[in-house]
Amino acid sequence: MTATVFDHIGLLFTADPEREEIENAALVAEDGVVRWIGPSSRAPAADERVDAEGRAVIPGFVDSHTHLVFAGDRTGEFVARMAGEPYTGGGIHDTVAATRKATIPELVTNTAFLVAEMAEQGTTTVEIKSGYGLTVEDERRCLEIARQFTEETTFLGAHVVPRGMSADEYVRLVAGPMLEACLPFAKWVDVFCERGAFDEDQARQVLAAGIKAGLQARVHANQLGEGPGVRLACEMGAASADHCTYLTDADIAALADSGVVATLLPGAEFATRSPYPDARRLIDAGVTVAIATDCNPGSSFTTSMPFCVALAVRYMGMTPAEAVRAATLGGAKALRRTDVGMLRVGTRADLVILDAPSYVHLAYRPGVPLIAQVWRGGRRIV
Ligand code: NIG
Ligand code: FE
Repeated sequence: MTATVFDHIGLLFTADPEREEIENAALVAEDGVVRWIGPSSRAPAADERVDAEGRAVIPGFVDSHTHLVFAGDRTGEFVARMAGEPYTGGGIHDTVAATRKATIPELVTNTAFLVAEMAEQGTTTVEIKSGYGLTVEDERRCLEIARQFTEETTFLGAHVVPRGMSADEYVRLVAGPMLEACLPFAKWVDVFCERGAFDEDQARQVLAAGIKAGLQARVHANQLGEGPGVRLACEMGAASADHCTYLTDADIAALADSGVVATLLPGAEFATRSPYPDARRLIDAGVTVAIATDCNPGSSFTTSMPFCVALAVRYMGMTPAEAVRAATLGGAKALRRTDVGMLRVGTRADLVILDAPSYVHLAYRPGVPLIAQVWRGGRRIV
């Protein structure tokens, strides 16, 4: 593979805690990884030269929480919510019905469309969950499709209890035959631990079965109200507790003590008209924060990490640097990845050239297409 030098970078935001921002920088990518970072004045020669023309460069976004495999949309539910209806998660059943009806090629096409949209907005690593199948075969095929797009696949059979089944009966199915069928296509196990979905004991059973089978845990927790989800995530050694909208002081202490990442999903608060989580309170307590899109047809139908960064800065008490760090390094930590989310010698050469002099513009100029080029593993994808 050829070596590429990215030269004349006005401001390089590396997300590397050792040196997070470098002005007038250059970066060399070779064989898909970062080989050299230094001042533009000392940029070495390479096979290919990309002139950043004084613009900013950031790591590719790591979107660590999405539900991309589905069919249909829920426009009507969104319109009703904007008129004041509350979000309850009940619409998940509508997407389940549409997803079950869809063919595999239709689901692959839908997922590919959304993954491409993400790439255009600077995302170079994506996690994808199942959860709109809710039968052994439908969950399995959703995960098999997700695997075509990423190695970060999550078994979320425990999204809601399907109609016509008792919760206990369904939990036995999820933790038994469904888990077994999904295992070859999953890295993670997740559960929606919330009033109206799965309670603490049910969630613990699902997570324990997944962990025993070799999966790593992550939990949808404390989205719609206070509850046991976050503490369960900490107890089970999950990589991440996701949503974290309603937190008690004990929840925050548990996150800080355990090192579990708090993944915040401001697109969901935007589209459900809910209060935003308080990232400041988490960061000040020493909790690692990630930002992700939660892209799904119900609570957050956005693929845009820049939009989520802007929301985080405007509504969650984050500085622009904290928000971009959470959308890159934070996402990588939520996926237990050290090879992405940061630009440092040895990491994968995933980077975004912004049509802006600083990463701050991602929040400062919301809604403006600032993604000029996207490189993944040293190859240009956008
Ligand atoms: O992350 N919390 C549960 N699941 C999704 C929403 C799914 C839906 O409404 O379709 C979420 O918000
Ligand atoms: Fe989600």
